[in-house]
Amino acid sequence: MSSNLPCVFVTRRLPDAAMEIIHSASAAEVWQEEMPPPRAVLLEKVRAAEGLLCLLTDRIDAELLDNAPNLRVVSQMAVGFDNIDVAACSARGIPVGNTPGVLTETTADLTFALLLAAARRIVEADRYARSGAWQTWSPMLLTGPDVHHATLGIIGMGRIGYEVARRAHGFEMNILYTDAQRSEAAEQNFGAQFADLGTLLSQSDFVTVHTPLTPQTRHLMGAQQFARMKPSAIFINTSRGPVVDQAALYEALKRRQIAAAGLDVFEVEPLPLTDPLLQLDNVVLLPHIGSASIATRTRMAVLAAENLVAGLQGLPLPHPVDPAVTRFARP
Ligand code: DGY
Repeated sequence: MSSNLPCVFVTRRLPDAAMEIIHSASAAEVWQEEMPPPRAVLLEKVRAAEGLLCLLTDRIDAELLDNAPNLRVVSQMAVGFDNIDVAACSARGIPVGNTPGVLTETTADLTFALLLAAARRIVEADRYARSGAWQTWSPMLLTGPDVHHATLGIIGMGRIGYEVARRAHGFEMNILYTDAQRSEAAEQNFGAQFADLGTLLSQSDFVTVHTPLTPQTRHLMGAQQFARMKPSAIFINTSRGPVVDQAALYEALKRRQIAAAGLDVFEVEPLPLTDPLLQLDNVVLLPHIGSASIATRTRMAVLAAENLVAGLQGLPLPHPVDPAVTRFARP
């Protein structure tokens, strides 16, 4: 590899399609381990780097940037970028890229999978079928609420919220939503009705969160909000864990203040094995796989590679971080 190519650090192995783009334009060092590079290693690796391709498991902050005097671009393989101090990057003139759009429908699919799994008790039923407990067909065995024609409350009608609404419309659900902005498209295409958060919480059979994690949305869902939900309601989160006060959610589930939850994201990831949520049957737990289809993860990696290369070449990034993500104001 020519030594004239800019030096880049890539914090995990990526699909070949992305690696080809990266290798064509840089001298890339790729972290080969399954676990993320430890902090000290990351700090050391960025010292000479002109480009950094990172994941949501890497903390990119002022300390790291101060350690990376040659850095010209930070490219994240994710749409969310709460692990990155974007202001600190901007202050140093370092553009930050993310991967919006390509994961929207895949994440909406997973949201619906979680919603159906929590409502129809799919995980419990699978355990039951394997356990030997299944003796006969029984009238009320493993029953749950219907999804079709129920009311779905969508908190955050951005790209993913909108695609969730499309799926809900297919199930003939009534849709309520809250956001800082009205979505004419969701109202016209899916009959979604705008509501304040309190109304949405008290009237919905299912509540699903689709906001970015910002200072405004941290613990947007807490004890007070769960208390407003119906005791029969089911809560879904595929956005970011800290949007929810997880201790309050645990209490609400344990005391059956709400019926169930489906969670793909947590305040601490991986979810510690000591976490009390693991003791509950009325919650479906997934390991942050919202965008995990083969095609989508490949598209995300390619986009991240394209952002990286554009930044190295001093060109505008195809997908600079989206200022719209800050628009969700706390209702
Ligand atoms: C993201 O992109 O922000 C997801 O959490 C991972 O796909």
